[in-house]
Amino acid sequence: MISPMKFQGSEQYVATRDLTLAVNAAIALQRPLLVKGEPGTGKTMLAEQVAASLGLPLLQWHIKSTTKAQQGLYEYDAVSRLRDSQLASIDGGERVRDIRNYIVQGVLWQAFTAEQPVALLIDEIDKADIEFPNDLLRELDRMEFYCYETRELIRARHRPVVFITSNNEKELPDAFLRRCFFHYIRFPEADTLRQIVAVHFPTLRQELLAAALKTFYQIRDLPGLKKKPSTSELLDWLRLLVAEDIPPEALLAADDKVAVPPLAGALLKNEQDVSLFEKLVYLNQRNR
Ligand SMILES: Nc1ncnc2c1ncn2[C@@H]1O[C@H](COP(=O)(O)OP(=O)(O)O)[C@@H](O)[C@H]1O
Ligand SMILES: [Mg+2]
Repeated sequence: MISPMKFQGSEQYVATRDLTLAVNAAIALQRPLLVKGEPGTGKTMLAEQVAASLGLPLLQWHIKSTTKAQQGLYEYDAVSRLRDSQLASIDGGERVRDIRNYIVQGVLWQAFTAEQPVALLIDEIDKADIEFPNDLLRELDRMEFYCYETRELIRARHRPVVFITSNNEKELPDAFLRRCFFHYIRFPEADTLRQIVAVHFPTLRQELLAAALKTFYQIRDLPGLKKKPSTSELLDWLRLLVAEDIPPEALLAADDKVAVPPLAGALLKNEQDVSLFEKLVYLNQRNR
């Protein structure tokens, strides 16, 4: 059992109240916490921070479009075994005889058999194909699976605390959703965002922050933007502004001087969005 200690956020991570409630609810229910939200809203970092503050090692599984559920359980390395069997005459073939030498343990296997309780992160589950979540249902539910090659049942010694993140690129199947506790990390409001910035830049000048946030939200609120800049992009931008010693005045589109804020490449990642923003700045100036 995981100790009753509750997640409260941490010095490096700002967690809103509804987020900490969700984390603790998922732990209490012993269900995976499914965290959705735009990229850069701190989903991956949440798993790292919760694991750290509960004192659990974190096993991470980063999902790609080609990832298969089976890889999280185990893989049988038939090629190595074949190769070894061809060389077997040399060392007597000890290794080849035991199939267990060719079973590559996946993250779930490691999480299930760990000596101590662990946290498990299945990151960006929506990257995989549509069958992927369903293929893991039973394993995550029952916390066990069968290895046919070695004829053993791998059962969790301790139920891991499971985090699953999604950037919302694909819908997840109902049967899968039913087994998770769900939380959507909304894009932070200005207050929360200020706290997040303060965690990363404790000595940032307030005028610069105010000007930067104003520009940042203006960009995010542009209708028709292809890619809204995220928290992590705001942090990158601030880092650059500080490094380049850009004064707050330079950010505000003050009369006809600045079109797009300096170093906007940290925020706007394609040319359509840049020209959209230029139009807004232009209109603002005309209406003055
Ligand atoms: N609530 C938060 N508190 C502190 N830093 C945050 C928070 N949310 C986002 N960040 C910053 O944004 C970066 C990106 O977060 P990440 O967890 O990678 O986002 P996601 O996994 O949702 O794409 C983090 O490395 C961190 O610097
Ligand atoms: Mg992530």
